[in-house]
Amino acid sequence: MKAIRGATTVEKDEAENIKQRVKELLTEIKNANNLNEDNMIFILFSNTADIRSFYPAKAAREAGFFSCALYSSLEPEIENSLNRCIRVMVLADISTEPKHIYLHNAAALRKDLTAHINIAVDGPAGSGKSTVSELIAKRLNILHLDTGATYRAVALACKKYKIDFSDEHQVRANIDKFNIEIKYLNNKQSTMLDKIDVSDMIRTPEMSLAASTVSAYKCVRDKMVELQRKFASSNSCILDGRDIGSNVLPDAQFKFFLTASAEIRSKRRMAENQTKNINQPFDIVLADIMLRDKQDSMRKFAPLVCADDAIKIDTSDMGIDEVADKILKIIQEKV
Ligand code: DC
Repeated sequence: MKAIRGATTVEKDEAENIKQRVKELLTEIKNANNLNEDNMIFILFSNTADIRSFYPAKAAREAGFFSCALYSSLEPEIENSLNRCIRVMVLADISTEPKHIYLHNAAALRKDLTAHINIAVDGPAGSGKSTVSELIAKRLNILHLDTGATYRAVALACKKYKIDFSDEHQVRANIDKFNIEIKYLNNKQSTMLDKIDVSDMIRTPEMSLAASTVSAYKCVRDKMVELQRKFASSNSCILDGRDIGSNVLPDAQFKFFLTASAEIRSKRRMAENQTKNINQPFDIVLADIMLRDKQDSMRKFAPLVCADDAIKIDTSDMGIDEVADKILKIIQEKV
């Protein structure tokens, strides 16, 4: 279920004008979001106190929106608020991104609902950035792009085409062959290689290390960063990776850098691996994490680094929800 917002103003506090503007607003919301009698559940109006001639909910019923529940309420008189403004929230059973509609100079009360927003979350392997980013994306109803998956897909492509991933020349000579795409189904990311969903295949310890190696190559970074920037420019989204705040999206409105001790990160990675039936001893996981930290931080191009303007959060003693709540609080305070 999604909440679709909208607002309009009316020229005069007159029944006809209110009816016409309510009908126009609801019709635009309905068309933009592919709504119908079956998926519209509830329409809630509020209007400024200078509208007295007609209830917006009644106008909606007269306009033919009577299959769902309707409700009107009055807003308090607030200094500098818009004159004669009707706001609406439509609850609808849809899975697509809601399209909010604002007409006749009405503006969104909450900027975060309509503004294009990019959030960068960086950090080393196992710092919790992917899980936290997924939670935040859900709560803000935006998309989450796990950029590590794009490098993992390059590593898998090397395996598929029998290219030695540790040989930069070979990778450079073949990279244009790799058809890597990101798709979303119900807001969940699928990483595609040659039109096949490889989201699970890239999550092995072998692909982790190979991704860390190929992500150091300039030819790989150029191609993946282009894909990531294109995605971020056309979607409100949260990107997690190693160089998002410092390189991919230096102008992102929000930047966070998550850290945790190597031991804690290894324990988390072990637990995650176990859910996928990958059982490795602690020492091996720790060595792998430390090697990746070294490779990711020492490389020449766009290394793992905390951007100057990123907010650093040590997650060693924090649960995932706690980290997500902290980030959301910072975001809400700023929008
Ligand atoms: O986050 P991850 O473990 O899925 O990332 C796999 C590798 O990809 C990681 O070792 C470093 C690299 N990577 C990168 O260089 N830049 C990013 N933005 C994301 C990941």
